[in-house]
Amino acid sequence: MRSTFALQDEVIYRLKAVAALLHVSENTLRNHLRDSGLEIQRANRKNPASPAVRLFSIGDVFRLAQWRREQELIKKVASSPIVIAVDLIKGGVGKSTTAGEVGIQLALQGYRVLMIDLDVQSNLTQLLGYESDLTVDEAAEHDLHPDAIVTGTFATICTQFMDSKNGRGTKLQDVSSLIKHPFGPAGPALIASDTFLGDLEQAFTYAKGNRELVFRQLFHESAAGHIPGFNVAEYDFVIFDCPPSISFSSTNAIAAADIILAPIRMDSFAVKGLSRLVSEINGLRERSPEIRPQLLILPTHYSTNIRRVSRMQQQLQAYKDNLSPTVISSSELFPKTQENYLPLTLQQPTAAPVAEYRLFTEFLLTVAAKVKGKTSVRAMES
Ligand SMILES: Nc1ncnc2c1ncn2[C@@H]1O[C@H](COP(=O)(O)OP(=O)(O)OP(=O)(O)O)[C@@H](O)[C@H]1O
Ligand SMILES: [Mg+2]
Repeated sequence: MRSTFALQDEVIYRLKAVAALLHVSENTLRNHLRDSGLEIQRANRKNPASPAVRLFSIGDVFRLAQWRREQELIKKVASSPIVIAVDLIKGGVGKSTTAGEVGIQLALQGYRVLMIDLDVQSNLTQLLGYESDLTVDEAAEHDLHPDAIVTGTFATICTQFMDSKNGRGTKLQDVSSLIKHPFGPAGPALIASDTFLGDLEQAFTYAKGNRELVFRQLFHESAAGHIPGFNVAEYDFVIFDCPPSISFSSTNAIAAADIILAPIRMDSFAVKGLSRLVSEINGLRERSPEIRPQLLILPTHYSTNIRRVSRMQQQLQAYKDNLSPTVISSSELFPKTQENYLPLTLQQPTAAPVAEYRLFTEFLLTVAAKVKGKTSVRAMES
């Protein structure tokens, strides 16, 4: 039985692809295999006539990434989770793709990642292998494990938290079953979305206190161990995939974030969406001065052949301090492969746009270290 729609059993990597995924040399990977003692299947087990090359599963790759973390072979970025909101009030710019690919890249580097789908369209949820409206019967028909069913969303966690704050005496239920692990326990985690996520907007209208800071308070209490089954401190990165519209959810995600990651589609006029995002961040900062997220702009759908790109680059000069030095090229591979319920990074580890997301993730790690560095200095000063 499969745990997601993705045909994960059909994804088998050779050593070279795994080295690319983990971003290590093939020699280093061989040493890791020797030192970790991890058992990897050999091709000649099923077919004695074939050479005894190792065949890695997706789960094996995340187990190796986890082992690297346990051996402290990765840089520690911060002692508390870094919250990233992938947001732009504009549709189809690459938010869900970026949230998924960056989330996978961070997990492959050994970081503990939680992705939260905040969009009723559930694109991130699908990218990670789930169909949000799947019923128990349909799951059985597709030979899917009951884990493949979305039984609750971030709305479930937030509404019971808000109810408990409203003094209705609500006892918080354990929410651990809402946290999915599409690639096994060593891989990234997901809080999926379905149409019931829409209830969250309604719930915000009844919230007591500052409605913009609900996610922030929830994370605070979660890190203190007050939310049964959900401790945000267990992650190095929390990534929100925001909807393309203005909503309480995206405002809350911005308010809870250390970094706002705005993908800008270079073959369109999305700079407009960017100025709206900046004024939203500024408005929030005026109302709640403790909020100081760092804006990071990632150009996507990039093509050097389009004259429009150079015009947009000029417009983006106004934001040059926030601009990623690396871009994501326009590539048909993204729409072409999204039906397979797997991020491109895991489908084609050596593809050119995957290398671009890896490069961007490295830059993101330097930004995260700086942002968190500043926070701890501020905390010490106060
Ligand atoms: N770099 C790229 N080159 C070409 N196509 C891309 C690229 N990135 C994403 N896409 C494709 O563009 C479409 C929209 O991407 P995506 O869903 O990530 O955008 P979004 O901003 O999350 O959209 P929405 O606002 O609807 O949530 C998808 O079909 C995706 O596969
Ligand atoms: Mg999206």
